Amino acid sequence: MAALESVISEVHASALEQLARASTLEAVEAVRVDALGRKGKLAEISKSFARLSPEERAGAGKLLNCAKQDLEAKIDAKKASLEHGALDARLDSEWIDLTAPAPGPRPGSLHPVTQVQRELEQVFISMGFAVLDGPEVETEYYNFDALNIPADHPARDMQDTFWLKDGRLLRTHTSPVQVRGLETLGPPLKMIAPGRAFRNEEVDPSHEHTFYQLEGMMVDHDVSVAHLIYFMKTLLSAIFKRDVTVRLRPGFFPFVEPGFELDIQCLICNGAGCPVCKQSGWVELLPCGLVHPSVLRAGGADPEQWNGFAFGLGLTRLAMMRYGIDDIRLMMSGDLRFLRQF
Ligand code: DAH
Repeated sequence: MAALESVISEVHASALEQLARASTLEAVEAVRVDALGRKGKLAEISKSFARLSPEERAGAGKLLNCAKQDLEAKIDAKKASLEHGALDARLDSEWIDLTAPAPGPRPGSLHPVTQVQRELEQVFISMGFAVLDGPEVETEYYNFDALNIPADHPARDMQDTFWLKDGRLLRTHTSPVQVRGLETLGPPLKMIAPGRAFRNEEVDPSHEHTFYQLEGMMVDHDVSVAHLIYFMKTLLSAIFKRDVTVRLRPGFFPFVEPGFELDIQCLICNGAGCPVCKQSGWVELLPCGLVHPSVLRAGGADPEQWNGFAFGLGLTRLAMMRYGIDDIRLMMSGDLRFLRQF
């Protein structure tokens, strides 16, 4: 029947028109449901087939099937093209440049103590000094006896020293490397020994149980206090990048004779007096002296032939002065807000 066939053609045509306008997968699906769904327009039409004669039914049925097949094919094609487009758009927006350098880990920085230590190592290497290492777990002999510190010296007091159960200890200073260095390398010798030292201290803004020192020693013929002062001044101007005025005061250390405290003129007030130098104009920085004959002997050097100077720089304190750090506890805190400033 011609009327039914024209209804089929109309539904077919209008579905194709809607399909052409559909721009999303959802819209295409809506067109499919509307035309081809179980309750869709074409399904409605096929219900009226019962009223047709067999010949009419054959004609209309053929047309209906053609319309269905055509719509199904075109809907599938449209879906495929939309899906493809979505993939293309995603590939476009998620494109990454594989040749660009990777972001990598955030660059870190060296601890202020390490920075000062490395600078000093360079200065001393350039003057012919060897950079030595010594054990942090040390024997009583190297930490005390060999350095002319008798058994009743207050430095051996339990309060100051971390003793281990086996009789060894955590070195209380880097000075034991003086004797170890002499033993292994022998005189003449120019060496420095940066490293960690430990003391059983009450921790406060200026005291830590763990801190860094830089030991230095030169053993040769006819070494004098003039040599000592020259090397100390070179060291200090390298760190502070300017000429520094120094003074020597007598100081007692069992392993040197004579022993000195080397002060530098305060770099904050240039000697006028300020809170940093406690109004004195001077800052205590470098204990030093001429190596005691007993120490030379302990290291296997004949004090009749050899002499030398030694010094023990507080590396942690020097780094604090250089960078204006007023609390020693920050140094070991591991606090990234502190460390990122250097
Ligand atoms: N070892 C001493 C200390 O930690 C510092 C020191 C003083 C080292 C005089 C020396 C020196 O080499 O000559 O307190």
